[in-house]
Amino acid sequence: MTFPENFLWGASTSSYQIEGAVKQDGRGVSIWDTFCEKPGAIDNNDVGDVACDHYNRYREDIAIMSEIGLNAYRFSFSWSRLFPEANGRAEKRGFDFYDRLVDELLEQGIEPVATLYHWDLPQYLQDRGGWSSRSIIEPFAEYAASVATHFGDRIKRISPINEPWVVSWLGYGSGVLAPGVKDYSEAIAAAHHTIVAHNAAFKAIKRVAPHVLVGPVLNQLTPDLDDYSDPFQIQAAKTFDQFLNYFWMDGTFRGKYSDHVWSMYGKALEDVVKEGDLDVVANDWLGINYYFNNRIGHSVPSNHPTANGFIGELAGLYSEGAPVGPTTDTDWPITPYGIGDLLVRWTREYGDLIPQMFITENGCAYADVPDENGVVNDVRRQSYLRDHILALDSAISRGANLGGYFHWSLLDNFEWARGFSMRFGLVHVDYQTQKRTLKQSAFLYRDIIKSHGQNLFHS
Ligand code: FCB
Repeated sequence: MTFPENFLWGASTSSYQIEGAVKQDGRGVSIWDTFCEKPGAIDNNDVGDVACDHYNRYREDIAIMSEIGLNAYRFSFSWSRLFPEANGRAEKRGFDFYDRLVDELLEQGIEPVATLYHWDLPQYLQDRGGWSSRSIIEPFAEYAASVATHFGDRIKRISPINEPWVVSWLGYGSGVLAPGVKDYSEAIAAAHHTIVAHNAAFKAIKRVAPHVLVGPVLNQLTPDLDDYSDPFQIQAAKTFDQFLNYFWMDGTFRGKYSDHVWSMYGKALEDVVKEGDLDVVANDWLGINYYFNNRIGHSVPSNHPTANGFIGELAGLYSEGAPVGPTTDTDWPITPYGIGDLLVRWTREYGDLIPQMFITENGCAYADVPDENGVVNDVRRQSYLRDHILALDSAISRGANLGGYFHWSLLDNFEWARGFSMRFGLVHVDYQTQKRTLKQSAFLYRDIIKSHGQNLFHS
């Protein structure tokens, strides 16, 4: 058996993407409510007001988790449900909702794994500058302490911030996600503040609930090269690796930024780093969100409309290669080997600094819908799932200490700037009727879980 006995087989979601009920029970406004009102910001001008109505249907959704056989579920708290106003007043009805959710999960034998911040910043905090301002750190630490005080008796694992690279670079750099700011200096400041805020939240949680296991959740990939002998591409890949991976890996686990990072960001970074900001906290785990490896190519297609194109401007040497082979609906390549490579790479490079790793997200968008018999035969997701879990098996054999895998996502949901057009779920959601239908991939996942991954070797 490769997968350890207490391996967590889970699925992930986030508050704004599934809850809906944006005006229910005193929830305050978040930057995503605001961003969705901006014409053209979201495909089809979709909004997350209703989404999967999970706020009212969480029981049905937990029953679905049981049917799949999940023993863990990763969700995020909506900060604006718990603290809807700038004056810091706690909203009891918000706490009550997450009490019901957590208690029902535990009742069903499903371990809740919580994220404090999955991109839905209270608007009142963005009005003070959001993540690009240092003033975010204190309220974030207080919020972390309140959640840990209230839920720490029942939640064993908490990650403060989901994908700080996305928070800073897509929220404040390219501006394709909320709050839609386009300013590289603000993005660099935000990136640094995510690390300081993470460390502050870590300490705040440990102060009130020392047994809670805390770790960062980072979106990562290893760039593939069209030509591994081309010095230009080798250099571009190194820059990309610093930009996406090492900034947070070294910042969080080693308490410093590399020379490469300092020379890349210069004054914009020097201006915001203060004494003690990077003092290391002893993180209990690392969560990796892995979707695909991207590609470094020969030339810079000047009009290439990718989310990452702006890195080129910043680093002066980036180029994007075309994906090799089929892509998913989000145009992402399918590169299962990359998930295992990351696990092995961090095991070798960081050793004991990372006590345990989890894949906290991994998945793919395909527009499969129910056929005339109500069956959603999402064959491409089934092979994506199979291939990625096999790659985990191999990484574990190569020494990676992996504690669990969470598929993104449990349900089709509101995929940020892509709205409802991108379906990542193991479960199909009909947004007109809110009917849930388990896709064939959910049944495959059920069999994987039941056999602890062994069915993949006999099929
Ligand atoms: C990740 C996000 C998650 C979802 C997936 C597809 O970057 O954390 O909310 O949007 O991508």
